[in-house]
Amino acid sequence: MAEDHKIETDEISGTRTTGHEWDGIKELDTPMPRWWLTVFYACIVWAVGYCIAYPAWPLISSYTTGVLGYSSRAEVIETVAEHKAGQAQFRDRIAAASMEEIRAEQDLFEFALASGASAYAVNCSTCHGAGAAGGNGYPNLNDDAWIWGGTIDDIHYTITHGIRNDTDEARVSEMPAFGELEILDDAQIESVTQFVLSLSGSPHDATLAGDGAVLYEENCAACHGEQGEGYPELGAPNLADQIWLFGGTPEAIAAQIHKPRQGVMPAWGPKLDEATIKELAVYVHALGGGQ
Ligand code: HEC
Ligand code: HEC
Repeated sequence: MAEDHKIETDEISGTRTTGHEWDGIKELDTPMPRWWLTVFYACIVWAVGYCIAYPAWPLISSYTTGVLGYSSRAEVIETVAEHKAGQAQFRDRIAAASMEEIRAEQDLFEFALASGASAYAVNCSTCHGAGAAGGNGYPNLNDDAWIWGGTIDDIHYTITHGIRNDTDEARVSEMPAFGELEILDDAQIESVTQFVLSLSGSPHDATLAGDGAVLYEENCAACHGEQGEGYPELGAPNLADQIWLFGGTPEAIAAQIHKPRQGVMPAWGPKLDEATIKELAVYVHALGGGQ
């Protein structure tokens, strides 16, 4: 147990004891190293100085602002304003330039690409995915299969006016609901489905596909092309490339023929400024498969 003893000088270390002793073991009162104390006091002085100079203490509805008047919010506002001013010269040039000019000038192109990427993340990734790989009903923008054309001007048009929305210049094309409108019966849909599968060399029933060929020629080739090569002016997807907007299983294809999905994409012209739309077109075109 601890007992109080008198303070004395320890023989071995030469340090004073605290007077505490446990079963013959005495506690030394070793002083803090001088360097440590110096740093400690310096920190206190620095902290007091900091509290006076900078915003530090919370009050009920505000805080102490500090004599230097610094505010991180003011700093952000200033930085943002500086960046905006720096961007303005690029954005003005982009708004005025043609798509070809933007692509020809390295600095404009790089700026457009970077700004397009961030505008994409904000406006487009919800439907087309963060990496633009798309999903069921939402086309992949990285590949070189383009439903509505993959030149930079086609892409610019698609983004500006959108698809099947209610704006005047939207891209529109309506595949008839062959099943729902009873243009084709279930057996005919089944055979034309098998023929569609054969177009891309997918596994199919050759006999049914043979019957389907005639139905395809009569009902589908005008939009999708004789060989299923697609027709961008009509937004009719290529059926021969094994890239499917709505899935490539017999069930998914038959469902599309029965009642097409008629995907809708909003028009961005009314929502985004011209420079942003051009930046998006540059970005999407550069994703990989631009024509
Ligand atoms: C509300 C969902 C939605 C949003 C948001 C959206 N899209 Fe789309 N987008 C679609 C759909 C659906 C299609 C395919 C329509 C169809 O069936 O033809 C499409 C098609 C496209 C195409 C045509 C692809 C091709 O193969 O021809 C491009 C290019 C495109 N989108 C770019 C964009 C860009 C850029 C943005 C952001 C500014 C965007 N989209 C935002 C739904 C969306
Ligand atoms: C008026 C033009 C038109 C005609 C005629 C037409 N289609 Fe389509 N087809 C389209 C369009 C546009 C799309 C994109 C559809 C959507 O968003 O619903 C499409 C999509 C499809 C798809 C989905 C492709 C994918 O990538 O997932 C299939 C399959 C298809 N059509 C098969 C047919 C068959 C089979 C016929 C004939 C029985 C036919 N279409 C007739 C315009 C047409």
